[in-house]
Amino acid sequence: MQRPFVYLAGLGVHVPDRIVTNRDFEARLETSDQWIVERTGIRERRYAAVDETVATMARGASLMALQRAGLAPGDLDAIIVATATPDHIIPSTACYVQALIGAEKAAAFDIGAACSGFIYGLTVAEGLIACGQAEHVLVIGGEKLTSITDQQDRSTAILFGDGVGAAVLSRAPTGATRGLLSSFIKSDGRLAELLYVPSGGSADPISEKVLRERTHYMKMAGREVFKHAVLTMAEACDEAIRRAGITAEDLDLLVPHQANIRIIDSTAKHAGIPREKIVVTVDRYGNTSAASIPMALAHAESTGRLKPGMLVMLVAFGAGFTWGSAVIRW
Ligand code: ACO
Repeated sequence: MQRPFVYLAGLGVHVPDRIVTNRDFEARLETSDQWIVERTGIRERRYAAVDETVATMARGASLMALQRAGLAPGDLDAIIVATATPDHIIPSTACYVQALIGAEKAAAFDIGAACSGFIYGLTVAEGLIACGQAEHVLVIGGEKLTSITDQQDRSTAILFGDGVGAAVLSRAPTGATRGLLSSFIKSDGRLAELLYVPSGGSADPISEKVLRERTHYMKMAGREVFKHAVLTMAEACDEAIRRAGITAEDLDLLVPHQANIRIIDSTAKHAGIPREKIVVTVDRYGNTSAASIPMALAHAESTGRLKPGMLVMLVAFGAGFTWGSAVIRW
């Protein structure tokens, strides 16, 4: 058996309405639009409303992806939600999505791989389809990062936003040339505490002390994360290209995780990919973790940059540390 086993049949996206600009932070934190733009490339991000959750945002993105794939919710065999901000600890957010869209025969579960979650999700979905367990799998990357972001911490508050992207993966016909050509996923848990939420899980449940010390929010060693991000993104690019049996010059589009424009530029430089082939949305959405790649793919498609036949590389790193990549013939 040979790849591709699967292709991306439809994409969908949902972004909350509320736009928070760098100027909004200037008003309440010791920071500036200039600092944020120069160090991160971010100009604005979206914040979910109080009653919006990953599952409710995923509903719209999922229905859009299904419609574009020409499928109904009842056609889905599985729903995978990659998220670091599930609606609840129990049950999985995927189960809420299953009920919200009425996918009556679908299995549903979440994946926790932080910003690499969508690529992990694609890899798991491909496995389900390749082994005959499923025909159509909905892979969602969704976050409400504002729920774990400390708005008093200028080093993280400015980085993160909310949103959801979704993709329907379907079985590729025998002999197909379009679809997922390669993927690569890896981790290094020794780096876990460079970027983590110290409390609120079973190791340190919510208590008055936790709330007082604000350890239920994300803590990040920014400079160290940056250094490892550049290294792991470079390795991920090399592996996806090698496994697909292509060269960097063959690529038409690079869709990297949208954490920081300087990390994106360094990744592209390492891979030898020119700026005009890179999809950048970090300026308008900030870092949306697991949602960033499917949101950027949907953006590229809706702006006419993603066309059938193109060779596209996805690459991500995230908390864990986790990292991964994929090459797709669109
Ligand atoms: N405004 C103004 N000054 C700031 C701000 C801010 N918002 N944030 C930090 N600073 C200050 C720091 O306090 C520091 O001051 P000091 O020199 O007086 O101590 C100075 O700016 C430099 O700080 P650095 O952390 O060295 O700044 P750096 O250039 O590394 O940029 C940043 C910080 C943007 C966070 C960068 O390190 C980065 O992008 N790291 C990677 C983050 C990332 O990608 N995280 C997501 C991982 S994916 C996931 O799984 C969620």
